[in-house]
Amino acid sequence: MWHKIKRILIIFLLVKRASAENSEAEQLFRDLEVVPDILDEPPKELLKIEYAGGLDVGRGEEFTPTQTKNEPQVDWTAEPDAFYTIIMTNPDIPTRQNPATREWLHWLVVNIPGTDLSRGYVIDPYVGPLNPKESGLVRNVFLIYKRLGKQEFDEPILNNTNVAGHERFSSKDFAKKYDMKLVAGNIFQSRWDEYVTFLHKQFGIIK
Ligand SMILES: *[C@@H]1O[C@H](CO)[C@@H](O)[C@H](O)[C@H]1NC(C)=O
Repeated sequence: MWHKIKRILIIFLLVKRASAENSEAEQLFRDLEVVPDILDEPPKELLKIEYAGGLDVGRGEEFTPTQTKNEPQVDWTAEPDAFYTIIMTNPDIPTRQNPATREWLHWLVVNIPGTDLSRGYVIDPYVGPLNPKESGLVRNVFLIYKRLGKQEFDEPILNNTNVAGHERFSSKDFAKKYDMKLVAGNIFQSRWDEYVTFLHKQFGIIK
């Protein structure tokens, strides 16, 4: 009898401790200071991100612009009837120490039914990291927001040949405007490599 009560008590305490601790995602967003730099609260779930060639985005590791130039596969725990938004944003423009024109929007797809990204509405098509050499190490932040219903988005459509609309984005304000709840996220870091020159030409930043 006492053994049983003791065992139940121990299980209860273990469960209680686990829920009080930060999840992996929460810890990552605080360790890399994305909270408080651009968010008030971290997401609970770590977003799965896989780039071409089986390149798994783990937890804040560094990858090159070349490795991350194409849209990755992403996966998270979704409710089948809910709609999701994916944002990739860079808070470190022009540098992490002096982010005067924070944030730079890299990817924005809304009204994604469940995790079926192909059926979402693309406001900003994916573009990988493109900070200049002087930026040093920057953070690339992925955020998944949830909405219970499908929604009208009154936003200009961006493209990858013009910087207009990408600069001075605010993930927090966007989520607030459309009343969305942050559910998952992940981060990788990057610095300049020669692929950035190609992107700067594509955007008309350099000739
Ligand atoms: C890209 O966006 C810019 C700025 O909104 C616009 O002027 C331009 O026509 C767009 N280009 C294409 C190919 O859609």
